[in-house]
Amino acid sequence: MSDKSSITLLALETSCDETGVAILNRVGDTIKVLSSKVASQVDIHKLTGGVVPEVAAREHASIIRPMIAKVISDSKVTGENLDAIAVTIGPGLVPALSVGVTAAQTLAYAWQKPIIPVHHLAGHIYSALLTKDYNLKTNNFPALALIVSGGHTMLVKMAGHLQYQVLGSTRDDAIGEAFDKVARLLGLPYPGGPALSKLAEQGSSQAFQFSRPMLRSGDLDFSFSGIKTEVLYKLRELNMGTGGPKTRANVAASFQQAVVETLVAKTKEALRPVRQAQGKQAQGQQYQLVLLAGGVAANKLLRQQMQSMADELDIPLRIAPPELCGDNAIMIGQAALFAYQKNRTNSWRDIDAHARLGL
Ligand code: KG4
Ligand code: ZN
Repeated sequence: MSDKSSITLLALETSCDETGVAILNRVGDTIKVLSSKVASQVDIHKLTGGVVPEVAAREHASIIRPMIAKVISDSKVTGENLDAIAVTIGPGLVPALSVGVTAAQTLAYAWQKPIIPVHHLAGHIYSALLTKDYNLKTNNFPALALIVSGGHTMLVKMAGHLQYQVLGSTRDDAIGEAFDKVARLLGLPYPGGPALSKLAEQGSSQAFQFSRPMLRSGDLDFSFSGIKTEVLYKLRELNMGTGGPKTRANVAASFQQAVVETLVAKTKEALRPVRQAQGKQAQGQQYQLVLLAGGVAANKLLRQQMQSMADELDIPLRIAPPELCGDNAIMIGQAALFAYQKNRTNSWRDIDAHARLGL
């Protein structure tokens, strides 16, 4: 029987449009990625301007088996030497998630290993928590995490490992979704976030004044559907359709500025030691750390402005490295290492894919 802080695991991620497979190893406080692969389906989903769940599932299914074989041979770890198999069970697209879950069940049955079910957002959080300068011996908690992805915008308080309290989330569109929809209005290809932020580099963020939604809402929730409509009306008012090159860049830069400022201001608000939220007082134990993760955390302006805010408040900030902002299996393995230590494992018989799943 191995010590719970010494473990080698295989991790699988198939919740949306990236297939991720990785093998991680932890000995005490040292965590190593032995091998990892990510296959993106972006070129396929470009054709439809978004992800069709059945198409995503078919792609995962066609590629996951050779990816697992390659990652295992690269790491030189045999199936029998693994301690467990970690897999994303939700939230996400059920047909896509089911490919990873079924693969994990099959391997767990064949190798007689336990499964570690992982919440996709826990994976994103751990990709920031375990950046290179992590030190498991220092007190990292309570930590405040801002998760910004294609499906979620959330402020989460972490009291300790795997202990989450959602403080605020989006009431409508997620931030990544807002980037993607505004990008489409500007005639940019899917996924819009990276293309929009690139276009924004050529524009002025002061050209147009878009609103900073929910800044005075008195809570920590977000809303991004209104600003998308503002952009639509602005483009109509300019009577430019998708606009001339300079105007499009100005709209992109002004939109990006407005949403980044909103995300940073809400995070700053959450960091206030004692917060009055809708009449009830939330206990504000001083945060030790701020985390930024998820696909949109790749955004340069957001990274810079979060860093300036953290410097101003003199609080450490860890941002997921750019290569781990998008979906991948390393982050799923990272969260799973801590779940394993807390005995959060299941038999292959007892796991399932979930479209919606609480943190
Ligand atoms: O975390 P992720 O890979 O998938 C989900 O779990 O949803 O996030 C994908 C989202 C997409 O909406 C994409 O447009 C956005 O992240 N994104 C960006 C940037 N890179 C990716 N948004 C803004 N700026 C970027 N540089
Ligand atoms: Zn994600």
